[in-house]
Amino acid sequence: MHLFSGSSHPALARALAQQLGCPLGNVTLKAFSCGERYVKFEDSIRGKDVYLLQTGTRNPDQDLMELFLMCQAARLSFAKTVHVVLPHFPYARQDRVAEPREPISAKLIASLLEHAGADHVVTLDLHSEQIQGFFSVPVDALDGRPIFAEYLKSKDLKDPVVVAPDAGGAKRAKKLADLMGADLAIMHKHRSAHHTAEILEVVGDIEGRTCILFDDIIDTAGTLAKAKQALVKRGAGKDIYAAATHAVFSGKAIENLTKAAFKEVIVTDSMPVKKNAVKGLKILTIAPMLARVLTHIESGKSVTEIYKK
Ligand code: R5P
Repeated sequence: MHLFSGSSHPALARALAQQLGCPLGNVTLKAFSCGERYVKFEDSIRGKDVYLLQTGTRNPDQDLMELFLMCQAARLSFAKTVHVVLPHFPYARQDRVAEPREPISAKLIASLLEHAGADHVVTLDLHSEQIQGFFSVPVDALDGRPIFAEYLKSKDLKDPVVVAPDAGGAKRAKKLADLMGADLAIMHKHRSAHHTAEILEVVGDIEGRTCILFDDIIDTAGTLAKAKQALVKRGAGKDIYAAATHAVFSGKAIENLTKAAFKEVIVTDSMPVKKNAVKGLKILTIAPMLARVLTHIESGKSVTEIYKK
């Protein structure tokens, strides 16, 4: 397999290569003194199916620009197929015109990726599933919930209920609840401004129960901190967990999570996150799942099959 990594997440690239039992391809990645990015494949990729791993970190513009350049360089070097593996899709939350005169940024990123040369995109726990429709090339939108379900089930939690911190996350949380055989509760969140969350209502039975707040992204952790306060106020049990796929942890995230004092904060390594960034942090790796997916893609096997096992 011809797997190349951008500079966003070397640890995940190494773990993935190890799972696949293949070395990472040689690619030079650097920046000019003015900040412009530079990439160059050091191995011939003519006629090859190449896999480019990059993820959205706290420098999403740099990650994307580097990825666009890698796609174009692969295309100009006669790669047969360019598979982009982008576990955390940057700009995914800007998936509609929510207020007048806004862009649909996620759609723009999709067109730029295609324009740069991507033939296929593999991504994980998209903020909204309709982002797949922004592409005209195929998208494998992977589901990280089985990874969370397996971990949470192993804890044998007492009377668990999965809680969606907003209505938009209800379907996402429902699937996790089903996988765990747990109940579901849904919160009504209001944002008076970007990064200011307010929880107005909780629908569902949470009293005295172990709550798992489940979201796609922890950015500033404002949502989860407010959600925990709302659960405590309404009499939830003492164990409240926070779980989310993408640990962006920007702004006051660490402060917010520390103050909220969750029983555990469970995230994946879809983007780089420091092991002890916050007390009770548990990082679940996506490398084995990604490796299985890429192996199935490479050998023309069903990716859906992976979820049936
Ligand atoms: C919003 O719709 C998302 O699903 C997350 O709830 C949100 O992006 C989390 O952001 P923050 O951690 O800054 O509240």
